[in-house]
Amino acid sequence: MLANTRALAIGLITGLLLAIFLQHIFVQDGTQPASGPALWLGSDNMATAALRNSLQMAQQVLRGAGYKSARFAPFGPHPPPIASSISSTALRPALSSTSAASKAFSTSSANMASSKSFLDAVKDRRTFYQLNKEAPISDKQITDIVNTAVLNVPSSFNSQSTRVVVLLNKEHETFWGFVGDTLKPMVPEEQWGNTEKKLSGFSAAYGSILFFEDPEPVENLRKAFPLYAHHFGDWSEHTSAMHQFTLWVALEAEGFGANLQHYNPIVDQKVQQHYNIPLEWKLRAQLVFGGRAGEPGEKKFEPLEKRVFVHGAKE
Ligand SMILES: Cc1cc2nc3c(=O)[nH]c(=O)nc-3n(C[C@H](O)[C@H](O)[C@H](O)COP(=O)(O)O)c2cc1C
Repeated sequence: MLANTRALAIGLITGLLLAIFLQHIFVQDGTQPASGPALWLGSDNMATAALRNSLQMAQQVLRGAGYKSARFAPFGPHPPPIASSISSTALRPALSSTSAASKAFSTSSANMASSKSFLDAVKDRRTFYQLNKEAPISDKQITDIVNTAVLNVPSSFNSQSTRVVVLLNKEHETFWGFVGDTLKPMVPEEQWGNTEKKLSGFSAAYGSILFFEDPEPVENLRKAFPLYAHHFGDWSEHTSAMHQFTLWVALEAEGFGANLQHYNPIVDQKVQQHYNIPLEWKLRAQLVFGGRAGEPGEKKFEPLEKRVFVHGAKE
């Protein structure tokens, strides 16, 4: 009882001090800084948010629940890692120097003919629709690339909410068969020919990576950090997108071509039943990859002047 009262008192005092401090720094004239924690708080007044968060922290302590790091929330939402079953140092390859690490980018250096810079790999990634069953690397290497990506790609609050299902060879064809079976009764008969042709194009590729989001870690974060609850849905999508882009670039750096598809949610249930995937997971995208059997289409670029704005750069 005494400990509970003390926790509540600490929460209240911390909140009040923070409120005064933040009021002083950020909300004197009603404006917010161009960057920094205030942006993460959306339209919330920082001082009110700090007070509310501290009260929530006190309540969480009283309930004996919550993440230890909740107390840092007023200064920015990201706590230390939640899941720590795998040590990151154990997974990181030993690098002789950081500059060596930043010079060469190769997803599986043992196989890549020549390693290219990260930005070259980003530049070379395109949408390839014409794909075949030729694979420049082995299935084991594909799996290694996926494992490396899933372990190391960042996620909101380190939620690690992305789930990836890799379908290779016959399983890849089974998946595109499911899409066809699902779509057939939905597509008007006269359009079915076109749809079927498109799906056969995907099926002619080597593999598909299905990106799911597990709502459980996302929901846990909503409960642990109510202040940011309305953001966690978006951040889960961002997390998925980061995985999608990483694997798209990584596979193309190995010589595959790839394209990104969205046959969710129509195919979700069939796939989840067949591969014994928890029904709560949400399919977000499908990355189809294979040997390059054609060139990507022409791409128009909007001028950078409309899209990038740099302030404060030195000459
Ligand atoms: C978030 C996102 C969603 C996309 N969805 C699809 C899709 O459903 N079907 C498709 O054929 N391409 C899809 N694309 C591919 C884009 O059309 C393509 O990336 C864009 O036209 C630029 O061409 P590039 O990939 O060759 O650079 C998607 C790309 C992104 C980034």
